Amino acid sequence: MLEHLVEFFGRTHLVVLHFPIALIIVAAMLELYAMLAPKLRRDAMTGAYRPSVFAVPLCSIALVAALVAVCTGLVFGYGGPAKVDSHRILGIVSAGLVLISCLVLLTARKPGSDIWARLYLGLLILAAVTVGITGHLGGELTHGRGFITRPLVRIFVAAPEPISALDPASFGISQRSLDTYLDTIQPIFDEFCIECHDADDPEDDVRLDALEFVLDPDLDMVQRGDADASELVYRIELPHGDPDLMPPPDDGEPLEAAQIRAIREWIEALGA
Ligand code: HEC
Repeated sequence: MLEHLVEFFGRTHLVVLHFPIALIIVAAMLELYAMLAPKLRRDAMTGAYRPSVFAVPLCSIALVAALVAVCTGLVFGYGGPAKVDSHRILGIVSAGLVLISCLVLLTARKPGSDIWARLYLGLLILAAVTVGITGHLGGELTHGRGFITRPLVRIFVAAPEPISALDPASFGISQRSLDTYLDTIQPIFDEFCIECHDADDPEDDVRLDALEFVLDPDLDMVQRGDADASELVYRIELPHGDPDLMPPPDDGEPLEAAQIRAIREWIEALGA
């Protein structure tokens, strides 16, 4: 019961996170506006910039929202893969910046504290930038890296060569191995692996979207004729829950025994 409540709490991260992003960016924009609009400069004596009347409510609500987002996020991402790290760290940094902004604001509101007022504005803008980047990194975690720009990349990057043009001799493999690869092996990679191992997202430089990468001696994933010595086979045969298992335990089901057998047999036959 408690376990499910904790899980629920973590998942609310996906809803909660939008509030601090919008609030911090709006707060920074409002302050920039207050600084640039001469009528709003509020120090009666010097005409210098003072944090706007909305600064206190906005900053404190943003702080609460940021803290809730961090807490739910820490639970949600607990034990997650290493790629969560930068998102997690930047999220904490963003909340920290909002906290410091709120503290600086306490002094910045008083008359004659020009430097504090500017410091507040600077910190808030910095927080808006980091929270924007944090949100973007988080989006890439749920949708995949380069999700937004991928359609644009496709305009400029040519489609891969049609597979019928592949010449088995250029890979030093038999026509039969090539046919098996195209009919059986590549479809497995397409379904389970290329989400993280293609040109858009070559995790660890590993690409599994074309034969030339699968057999690339520099990547050293496949030992021709020796499935047991092949890193690729090692990774897909690890017990469920092992953090090195591919696909990673959090990201999908392991391969079926028949699929693993097909990959093994294909690698064994490469040595012939
Ligand atoms: C959700 C993303 C994701 C999916 C899906 C995925 N991988 Fe990976 N893979 C990674 C990451 C991240 C790494 C680098 C970290 C590591 O080595 O564990 C990696 C590393 C590897 C490596 C190690 C390369 C080396 O340098 O030692 C191999 C081999 C590999 N993956 C094969 C596969 C295969 C085969 C599949 C499909 C059955 C697959 N991966 C699916 C994310 C993924």
